[in-house]
Amino acid sequence: MALMTATRIACPLTVRDVPAARMAANQAHQAGADLIELRLDLCAAAGADPQELVRSIPDLGLPVIATCRHRGEGGAWNGEESARLALIQQAEAHGAAWVDWELAFLDRLDGWRPQRAGLILSHHDFEGQGSDLEALVIRMYAAGAQCAKLAVTPPDAAALAPLADLCSRYGLWTGRNDARSIVALGMGEVGLPSRVLAGAWGAWCTFGRLEDGDPGSAPGQPTVAELASLYRVGRQGSDTRIFGLAGKPVGHSLSPLIYNTAFAHLDLDAVHAPFLVHDAPAFWQACGGWIDGLSLTVPHKTALLDQLDEIEPLAARLGIINTVWRDQSTRAIGANTEAPAAVECLEQALGPLARKRILVLGAGGAGRGIAFALAAAGAEVAIANRTAARSATLAGEIGALALTGEEARAWPWEALVNATSVGLGTEESPWPADRLRPGAVVFDTVYHPLQTRLLREACEAGCIPLCGLALLISQAVEQFRRWTGQEPPRALMQRRCLERLGLPQGGCGCLHLSSE
Ligand code: ATR
Repeated sequence: MALMTATRIACPLTVRDVPAARMAANQAHQAGADLIELRLDLCAAAGADPQELVRSIPDLGLPVIATCRHRGEGGAWNGEESARLALIQQAEAHGAAWVDWELAFLDRLDGWRPQRAGLILSHHDFEGQGSDLEALVIRMYAAGAQCAKLAVTPPDAAALAPLADLCSRYGLWTGRNDARSIVALGMGEVGLPSRVLAGAWGAWCTFGRLEDGDPGSAPGQPTVAELASLYRVGRQGSDTRIFGLAGKPVGHSLSPLIYNTAFAHLDLDAVHAPFLVHDAPAFWQACGGWIDGLSLTVPHKTALLDQLDEIEPLAARLGIINTVWRDQSTRAIGANTEAPAAVECLEQALGPLARKRILVLGAGGAGRGIAFALAAAGAEVAIANRTAARSATLAGEIGALALTGEEARAWPWEALVNATSVGLGTEESPWPADRLRPGAVVFDTVYHPLQTRLLREACEAGCIPLCGLALLISQAVEQFRRWTGQEPPRALMQRRCLERLGLPQGGCGCLHLSSE
C-alpha cells in the first residue's frame, strides 16, 4: 500500500443491506469522505447478510476498510472466529483496500496476512489509555501492520500529548519511507481534538459519522462534513497552526465554528479545536508545545496565570485571562479580550462611555472584567450582586458604587449589563421586567439561549437590546488579531453562528446583529 500524502477521512458504515450501503457510501463521498469502513460486525448485528455486503465492495465508490470487530474489542461479532476470518479474507478477495484486525486477537489470523490489501492492526481501550502505547505500535508493525491504529479513552486533555507524540514519530510527516503509518484516536469528548487535528498531527486517517444524530461506531466521532468542511482535515499538514478552546464544558461552544470559518475565509493554514479540560495547568504543560493559541473559558480563566511567559497589563490587573497567544519568539502571552469587547459592544449602542451610568449585575469573573473595563473607559459604574461582599470588594477596587437590589432598581442607569449566569440555559431573568427603562440599553452577556428572557422583556419594554453573541464575536475578533495579525470576517462569523443557532435572519432584535 502506498503511503498517502494527506490524512484521509474514513466513514464507518453500519447498514442493513446492500442498497443502504451504496446510498450511505455515496452520501459519505458527497460529504467529503475518502474511505469507507465497512463494519461487518455491526452490519450483521443490524440484520445485514455480511457475505452480500462483502460482494458489494466494488460498487461502493470509495476504497473500503473491511472490519469485523470482536466483542472483546468493542465490536458486535458473536459468530465463529473462523467465519470472521473467512469474511475478512473474502473482503480482500472482493477488493477491500484495507483490512482491520485487533492486535489482541492476532492469533485468530492463524498466520494469515492480506496480500493485496493493507493490514491495519488495532487496539481499543474504552476505559482508559494505558501507559505504554508505543509498545503496542511496535508489536503491530512487527506483526506485519502497515497501519497501527490506537483508539483509547484519554482521561483528560493532557493525555492527548502521547497520542500527538506517537503521530509525530510514526505518522505522515516524519519523512519515513517505509510505508507504515499510524492512527491515534482519543474516544469521547476529551478525545475529540485527536480526531479533528488528525491532519496536523500526521495521522493516516480519522473517522467521521455520516450525519449528526447518527450514533456512529465510536463515542465522540464528529461528522464527515465537519471534518472535511469545518476542520479541513485533508488540508491540514505539518505546518498547520493549532488553536483551541480550553474549558469545561465545551460541547456546545460556537468557538470552533467562529475561528475555523475565519481561517477558511482567509485561507490560513490553521485550525481551532475544542479541548475539554479538567486540569488546565497539566494540559498546558503537556500540550502547550504544539498549541499556538488558546481561548480560555469557564472554569480556567485564572488557571494559567502562573504558566505563561507574560501577561498583558489589563489581564494582569484583572487576574483573568481568556486568550493565550504566542509572539514571534513563541513566548506564550496571556491576554483579556473580553473586557475591552464589552466596552466595544456598549459603545456601539451608547457612543463614548465617559460619564454614562452603567449598572453591572454580577461580580464574578465576567462581571469583574466588564466592570473594570467600563470604569477605565470613564463610565459611572454601579455593581449589584447576589453576594453583597463581592460587589463591595469589586466596587472598592475600581471606584464604583456597590448597590443592593433595591438600590439598583431605583438607580437611573443608561445601560444594564447582565454579567451573572442567570438565564444561561434557563427561562430566568436577573432583573424584574417592570424595572426596565425604555430607551436604555440592555446587554445580556449570556448567549445560550441567544434570546434570553431578559432580552425579550427588554425588547417588549422598548429598550435597546444587545445580545451575548455580540460580545462573543467581539472578543473573538480581538483574539484572532493577536493570533494571526489579520482582520477576521466579523459579519461572516456572526452569520454562521446565527445559522447554527437556527436564527439565520438574526431574529433576536439585537442592535449589534441587525446593524451588520
Ligand atoms: P463567571 O466567570 O461567569 O462570572 P462566576 O465567577 O461563577 O462565573 O460568577 C457568577 C456570577 O453570577 C456571580 O456574580 C454570581 O453571584 P454570587 O457572587 O452571589 O455567587 C451570579 N449568580 C449565579 N447564580 C445566581 C443566581 N441564581 N442569582 C443571582 N446571581 C447569581
